[in-house]
Amino acid sequence: MRTQVAIIGAGPSGLFLGQLLHRAGIAAVIVERQSPDYVLGRIRAGLLEDATSGLMDELGIGARMHAEGLVHEGVELLFAGKRHRVDLSGLTGGKRMMVYGQTEVTRDLMDARAQAGLPTIYEAQEVSVHDFDSTAPKVRYRTGKSGDGALHEIECDFIAGCDGYHGVCRASVPAGALRTYEKVYPFGWLGVLADVPPVSHELIYANSERGFALCSQRSLTRSRYYLQCPVGDKVEHWSDDAFWAELRNRLDPRARERLITGPSIEKSIAPLRSFVAEPMRFGRLFLAGDAAHIVPPTGAKGLNLAATDVKYLSTALIEHYGENSDAGLDAYSARCLARVWRAERFSWWFTNLMHRFPDTGEFGQKIQEAELGYLVNSRAASLSLAENYVGLPLDFGA
Ligand code: FAD
Ligand code: PHB
Repeated sequence: MRTQVAIIGAGPSGLFLGQLLHRAGIAAVIVERQSPDYVLGRIRAGLLEDATSGLMDELGIGARMHAEGLVHEGVELLFAGKRHRVDLSGLTGGKRMMVYGQTEVTRDLMDARAQAGLPTIYEAQEVSVHDFDSTAPKVRYRTGKSGDGALHEIECDFIAGCDGYHGVCRASVPAGALRTYEKVYPFGWLGVLADVPPVSHELIYANSERGFALCSQRSLTRSRYYLQCPVGDKVEHWSDDAFWAELRNRLDPRARERLITGPSIEKSIAPLRSFVAEPMRFGRLFLAGDAAHIVPPTGAKGLNLAATDVKYLSTALIEHYGENSDAGLDAYSARCLARVWRAERFSWWFTNLMHRFPDTGEFGQKIQEAELGYLVNSRAASLSLAENYVGLPLDFGA
């Protein structure tokens, strides 16, 4: 098989890139290790920045998002027993966040891909990438569940590594060609999804003596809650009752009263990590999304960064094929990384602000309290939070 761009991974970055290229008349094949149901079953991000919801519109797949998504203009911070609203829209000249789960974004992208009859190879086994330091890269994979099926090869001009943190693409770059930066946090997030109305209209980020909690949502009838938990904790240690009791303990009296509990429909623990691999290009292999960088989920930047990476990559590929110019491809890594590091900084800062660290000490605790007080009482500090939370402009600092 031959194509122009072979995309590894059918998560948000691979699917967004596939649609962007399709609209520009560039042929692409997506190779994904898992089944469509498995991909859709992963409960992850829930908040879209304007740039990401705008990308859905640009691709002509925004209708369901506008009908079912919830527009949020503010967010609440809870600390020292009190809630403080940050007026995101008021501070940022009208920018908003869209509550629309990654599952729904993925489903809309998958449907559009299927309707256009675009090729996606699901359940590909032993996926490997080759010769991307030449002008004739190749992707190989096997079909068949056990991996003993036929060996297939795709010849292409470029490979897009959209295969997440544990994917094969970054791991295939020769040792020494990538520099990585990493910070692992001493806690994880225990997440619960439940078909109960959200405790509050807007999201609540809580810094309590017992640790961080987040009250998020997927719809008016579906809630997503998270609790900071010790690193190494196991989901099996957490009954639904234990989860709800601990969440209640970390909220303010008004929220406690309003909290409606019910059986969990999903429960999982995510470790928290900051990670960046530089550069995001090696020859004709381009990394995008979680394959190149991870942020802790505080601030909901992961999915949004994946979307902007592939927006930049598609623009560069369109320039390559349409204008015979490689300027965009050559600038891709630096352009993405400037945005990535700003989001890394914000996510790291917000994580530090809202969590309880085992080794902070009394001085660190006092500094955290002082910073929270400053944040909600200073317009400058609130604005800094707001402009990062809603997403810095795509041309920021350009
Ligand atoms: P992924 O979504 O990881 O997609 C990569 C795809 O590549 C997957 O479908 C995978 O199956 C496939 N793949 C992997 N290896 C191979 C291979 N060898 N061959 C072929 N295919 C392969 N972000 C937020 O903003 N808010 C959140 O609350 C949040 N929660 C998260 C919880 C968890 C447990 C995780 C892991 C991430 C979370 N994120 C969150 C981050 C967000 O989900 C990611 O940033 C986003 O999914 C990135 O999209 P992606 O397409 O780059 O990578
Ligand atoms: C979510 O709804 O899953 C979510 C929302 C905000 C975050 C992280 C996760 O900061």
